[in-house]
Amino acid sequence: MRIILLGAPGAGKGTQAQFLMKTFGIPQISTGDMLRSAIKAGTELGLKAKQVMDAGKLVSDDIMIGLVKERIAEPDCQNGYLLDGFPRTIPQADAMQEAGIEVDYVLEFDVPDDVIVERMAGRRVHPGSGRVYHVQHNPPKQEGKDDLTGEDLIVRDDDKEETVRKRLAVYHEQTEPLVKYYQNVADQGATKYAKIDGTKSVDKVSKELGQLLQ
Ligand code: AP5
Ligand code: ZN
Repeated sequence: MRIILLGAPGAGKGTQAQFLMKTFGIPQISTGDMLRSAIKAGTELGLKAKQVMDAGKLVSDDIMIGLVKERIAEPDCQNGYLLDGFPRTIPQADAMQEAGIEVDYVLEFDVPDDVIVERMAGRRVHPGSGRVYHVQHNPPKQEGKDDLTGEDLIVRDDDKEETVRKRLAVYHEQTEPLVKYYQNVADQGATKYAKIDGTKSVDKVSKELGQLLQ
């Protein structure tokens, strides 16, 4: 199964990716996690991406398209994958279409901006795995520690309120047009489009996804 997770920053893409990975045995391709790994490794891409991400802007389409094409050609993606954070612009979606990469589902997570700003303030992440928690809504078993490794959780550099608001503006301007784009794609072919109410609890959203995709 090939799935695109579409939604604003903080809409719950990474959180539900964990559930979908476990349920369907397909890898998560999080372009944000890939860029954060590059930053940590100090690669040339990482150096370029850091400034852009900290400013709440988008990394260039050419770089992102190249990264994703390379990743989905790997053996573990041959039975499907979850795209989390890609495509994020019309040119990125066009590049997928042009390369003949079709998906089975586009899942849009709908969450109002105010809820997102509140969520981001409480987000904690495990940098090694990309696992996501929230201090109230999805707390780790032990405060400040990842459930599986016991390693420290951190606050992402781009989760300052000011940066979150910039990321939301960028989302509305550059990514939201993909809603119409993929509704049109769904009208024409085998791709299914579904809008999910992302304001419900983590468990309720997972349950809804499980039912939808079974
Ligand atoms: P990326 O890492 O993709 O960030 P994002 O899209 O902004 O999304 P987030 O990871 O912030 O949110 P999420 O939807 O995964 O929410 P989460 O599950 O964590 O990208 C980062 C940056 O990289 C971009 O700004 C850009 O610069 C660059 N980039 C990446 N891809 C790119 C591309 N294709 N092109 C160009 N640039 C690119 O949840 C958020 C919080 O809410 C957590 O604390 C969670 O526990 C909590 N939560 C989740 N669900 C619920 C719920 N149902 N109820 C209550 N709390 C919940
Ligand atoms: Zn994420």
